[in-house]
Amino acid sequence: MNLTLKIWRQKGPNDKGQMVDYNVKNISEHMSFLEMMDVLNEQLVAKDEEPVAFDHDCREGICGMCSLHINGEAHGPDRGITTCQLHMRRFNNGDTITIEPFRAKAFPVIKDLVVDRMAFERIQQAGGFISVNTSGNTQDANAIPISKHAADEAMDAATCIGCGACVASCRNASAMLFVSAKVSQFALLPQGQVEAADRVLNMVKQMDEEGFGNCTNTGACEVECPKGISLENIARMNREFLRASLKG
Ligand code: SF4
Ligand code: FES
Repeated sequence: MNLTLKIWRQKGPNDKGQMVDYNVKNISEHMSFLEMMDVLNEQLVAKDEEPVAFDHDCREGICGMCSLHINGEAHGPDRGITTCQLHMRRFNNGDTITIEPFRAKAFPVIKDLVVDRMAFERIQQAGGFISVNTSGNTQDANAIPISKHAADEAMDAATCIGCGACVASCRNASAMLFVSAKVSQFALLPQGQVEAADRVLNMVKQMDEEGFGNCTNTGACEVECPKGISLENIARMNREFLRASLKG
């Protein structure tokens, strides 16, 4: 395949940035999208030009690092996959593909397609943990009865990889789907109850301080989430927040 790529280039956080056109030739339909980007970068390096900076790590849908807005959709046109799992067979010879970074005030661009998602880390640090004694005398997990339903729902919430597609897809740049997944995975389990009230209050406070927008129940986040995180988690987080606020 021969393709035209329209890519966001930005030298650094303070650069204005612009879309730049590139042509790539002989792209195999079996390549992943990131391998296609590797081919482009090899071509740029061969011409002594600056390669395009983009985020990636595992390249198998686990780490949440890859984060491209492709033809206007977070992680591209397919559902339930990350950018690194997208394949070039999804495109046609002669296509023009637009590639931009995830855009949100709380995700400032570092360079080209790389954005700073440390806001998510700070939300996690505010409450995304449990305090347990791990010095060798911890209780066997199997000794704590947990219903199958609760275990399944907690596991589903825990599949969030923190990619930020929910924020990038939301017209308000809301982080509610991400935060609600992180709150839910603990709220559903007995081990998460001790700090439950502080957790939801602190994580929501940090989310607001980071500059994410409010949720207006549009649902774009759920559609674009590569891990199928459900809006049910937002409803659960709202209940947890209300309960914690009344308690406080
Ligand atoms: S909720 Fe989905 S889209 Fe949002 S950070 Fe988690 S995995 Fe990514
Ligand atoms: S590079 Fe790890 S999820 Fe895409």
